[in-house]
Amino acid sequence: MNPTTEVPAPSPVSPSLAGPLKVAVILGSNREGRFGPVVADWLLGRFRDRDDLVAEVVDTADAGLPTALSSSPSPEVAAELAKVTPGLAAADAFVVLTPEYNHSFPASLKALIDWHYEEWRAKPVAFVSYGGVSGGLRAVEQLRLVFAELHAVTVRDTVSFHNAGASFDDAGRHRDPAAPDAAAKAMLDQLAWWASALRTAKEARPYGS
Ligand SMILES: Cc1cc2nc3c(=O)[nH]c(=O)nc-3n(C[C@H](O)[C@H](O)[C@H](O)COP(=O)(O)O)c2cc1C
Repeated sequence: MNPTTEVPAPSPVSPSLAGPLKVAVILGSNREGRFGPVVADWLLGRFRDRDDLVAEVVDTADAGLPTALSSSPSPEVAAELAKVTPGLAAADAFVVLTPEYNHSFPASLKALIDWHYEEWRAKPVAFVSYGGVSGGLRAVEQLRLVFAELHAVTVRDTVSFHNAGASFDDAGRHRDPAAPDAAAKAMLDQLAWWASALRTAKEARPYGS
């Protein structure tokens, strides 16, 4: 029996006095000629009918983050961090868009993750993955381990696109949108539930105190 059918969807999150939950949509690929923006545009369309979530893009391609980490970054690196850190810090939740590279996720995404710490803490993370035959599922399973170390909570449901390039037309529309649209709704409902619950919990008692 498919356990998906046994677990009801989380109750809708009512817009709170604190306003809609802020979701950083993270583009993990910075590859020249990347497909990621097509997937990002599709995902941003899934936020349009929601009053509980507002999306802001954080793009690894906007910042040239070095792989050599430093606790006292140079002014040049600090300037690059300033292009992405505020969006991560302000977010109540994340959706990570990741392709699969050699059965894992891209180095650009790992650099963004490793250059930050507190920004991920006690927040939920959802995943949209894409790639060849695997649809990026191996990248997602590895990212769950990474985010656990950062005290982040990964949500169960994901959206994945196998053979992603062939799934969208030249205008960036998905050729058969019913299933991915439904998957995105389930994923965003879970993300909203966790983000709301964790925001309330952190207001009552800061995480780690
Ligand atoms: C270096 C590299 C390694 C890849 N390895 C895999 C892989 O292991 N499994 C897979 O399904 N697709 C793999 N692909 C295909 C990519 O997931 C696919 O081209 C995806 O669209 C890349 O995302 P991007 O265009 O946004 O960078 C690989 C692509 C590249 C460039």
